[in-house]
Amino acid sequence: MNVLGIETSCDECAAGVVADGTRILSNVVATQIPIHAVYDGVVPEIASRTHTEWICRVVTEALAQADLSPAQIDGVAATAHPGMLGSLLVGLSFAKGFAWSRGLPFIAVDHILAHLYASRLAPSEENPPEYPFLGLLVSGGHSIICRVDDFDSLTILGTTIDDAVGEAFDKVSKHYGFGYPGGAAIDALAQRGDPEAFAFPKPNLYKGAHRYDFSYSGLKTAVINQLEQFRKKQNTGPEDLAAAFQKTAVEILLRGLFRAAEDTKLSVIVCGGGVAANSYLRSRLADQPALRCIFPGLDLCGDNAAMVAGLGYQYLVRGERSPLNVPAFPRVRAFKRRYP
Ligand code: KG4
Ligand code: ZN
Repeated sequence: MNVLGIETSCDECAAGVVADGTRILSNVVATQIPIHAVYDGVVPEIASRTHTEWICRVVTEALAQADLSPAQIDGVAATAHPGMLGSLLVGLSFAKGFAWSRGLPFIAVDHILAHLYASRLAPSEENPPEYPFLGLLVSGGHSIICRVDDFDSLTILGTTIDDAVGEAFDKVSKHYGFGYPGGAAIDALAQRGDPEAFAFPKPNLYKGAHRYDFSYSGLKTAVINQLEQFRKKQNTGPEDLAAAFQKTAVEILLRGLFRAAEDTKLSVIVCGGGVAANSYLRSRLADQPALRCIFPGLDLCGDNAAMVAGLGYQYLVRGERSPLNVPAFPRVRAFKRRYP
């Protein structure tokens, strides 16, 4: 079964075709990064307008790269939430129109579940983990530690109480002029830096309801407030600041994650989202003999439509369909939240 997936929740205009939920036939991601880079952040109005201009060509290209005609598509999936409403609506509406015009089954999917599905796409993962497992979803908009019981069932255990981890990378990078988007720029700089050159705080939210939660606003402010010190400090460069920030940001995540692994006795961790591309996070988790940590390939960490098509397939084979009036929704929704 060939499913066409469409993803426009933020600034990537993406379409892809996946066969039988795992085999990627095409995965086209047209990024708007250069358009938003001049503003050092995504401008929602510009993003949705650009999706409107690009979506037709991106879907056409995804079909061409898959070497399929529209008649060879068996179902359509699109991201409906969470994301920027104006952007979501472009891909969602296009997908509905495509499905309706060809009489195809249509399914609206969740972006968070799609990121967690990405590592099940071949060739990333030939031996997909059994459910349940722990999920670590880290991106520009979300930072979530969760228990995943099935492709459509997720319980949030912990999350950020303020900024998302990717957002902290982006804001630190913007402040120091390291580049946009910040995550990849800081990761590249940090390769040559000394992570011990600066000491940054790791806020403790240990107790009760906040056992797995974390906060990034304090770290972000601390790093930004070091600017003067950074300028004065001899023998340190931007790469040291990047390495120290990156290490602290990842350790904050890992503290909650390891605690959740211990408490839930779940030893398989599946990661997803743009920050899952981070080299320090990947190497730290590769270094845990008691845990099996699974990452999508680097090209499947950030926003893409193959993960949407793959996840959509799972609903479609189960016979589920979304009505053509299903709405887009900007916020995280429909997940249980449970604390131990
Ligand atoms: O999943 P994604 O493409 O979009 C959202 O759903 O938000 O994630 C984008 C985020 C950005 O904040 C970007 O700076 C971050 O992922 N990112 C990284 C790396 N590559 C991308 N953060 C840390 N290290 C990286 N290598
Ligand atoms: Zn995303």
